[in-house]
Amino acid sequence: MKSVLFSRFFILLPWILIVIIMLDVDTRRPAPPLTPRPYFSPYAVGRGGPRLPLRRGGPVRGAEKGNESRPQPQPQPQLPTIYAITPTYSRPVQKAELTRLANTFRQVAQLHWILVEDAAARSELVSRFLARAGLPSTHLHVPTPRRYKRPGLPRATEQRNAGLAWLRQRHQHQRAQPGVLFFADDDNTYSLELFQEMRTTRKVSVWPVGLVGGRRYERPLVENGKVVGWYTGWRADRPFAIDMAGFAVSLQVILSNPKAVFKRRGSQPGMQESDFLKQITTVEELEPKANNCTKVLVWHTRTEKVNLANEPKYHLDTVKIEV
Ligand code: UGA
Ligand code: MN
Repeated sequence: MKSVLFSRFFILLPWILIVIIMLDVDTRRPAPPLTPRPYFSPYAVGRGGPRLPLRRGGPVRGAEKGNESRPQPQPQPQLPTIYAITPTYSRPVQKAELTRLANTFRQVAQLHWILVEDAAARSELVSRFLARAGLPSTHLHVPTPRRYKRPGLPRATEQRNAGLAWLRQRHQHQRAQPGVLFFADDDNTYSLELFQEMRTTRKVSVWPVGLVGGRRYERPLVENGKVVGWYTGWRADRPFAIDMAGFAVSLQVILSNPKAVFKRRGSQPGMQESDFLKQITTVEELEPKANNCTKVLVWHTRTEKVNLANEPKYHLDTVKIEV
């Protein structure tokens, strides 16, 4: 009886092994996709766009080899690049501000961050930060002349101009790729929807800004799809009564107006935006975004000055920590 069972087992064994091997092979083979799967990425804002590869720690090249049957993300039909020019300066909250900003920008497809330090040289803190930020970026620096570092005078004029000069230089020989520029101060708060709105800018687009000008919000007033005035609590007589966070300009407009820059001479704080926009557009030409300028998608938040009253005069800790 025992030997019969044994012989049956040995007759069946090869068949059992064959079935196991076949099952195993089958589960390893990727099923040919019947219809291409939509490429889903939680990081893309430009509707289904692929996540931008990280500069470091991105997908390993070799790992993609031999996986050709996997559906590849469809190439984007030239999503305009958003260039964000951010002036920044050294202070206790700088790294915290830049961290918040990078966390937002990392979720926006096809964004190039132009970070301009108000400094005589690139700082180690910002260089290290950018290298690990996982964003396509350009790191510039230019110091604000001492005579302009006074309360009541406009800030970041030289830094924004350095960003503009870099953009013009970069695109001077090639035909301009579709692109949109906007000025992203390092302390504001930006919703992801804002980037979707500004991406379709043809010349100059505008939208409301929250928590600015002594009011809950300021906004361009729109009638029949055109800007006809400004809802603002401060100097409504400005030709463009808008904050730096309230507009975007197409790369084409920046390139075809090579002399348009932020000016020190004759410019008071709060007038920089208006003086700049006057050089490149007219009120009639403005493109209202954010549902005819009825939605706040960016806030002019300001970070409280940090209390360092208990900070020792000399370094007391056993380690040196970057904050
Ligand atoms: C308001 C406007 O929103 C700014 O766009 C404008 O530049 C500024 O006024 C002005 O007075 O010129 P506010 O919040 O008062 O903004 O200004 P900050 O946020 O202190 O500075 C604007 C940007 O310039 C920030 O990105 C900041 O990091 C940078 N900055 C500020 C410098 O690069 N250097 C400085 O010395 C000060
Ligand atoms: Mn600010």
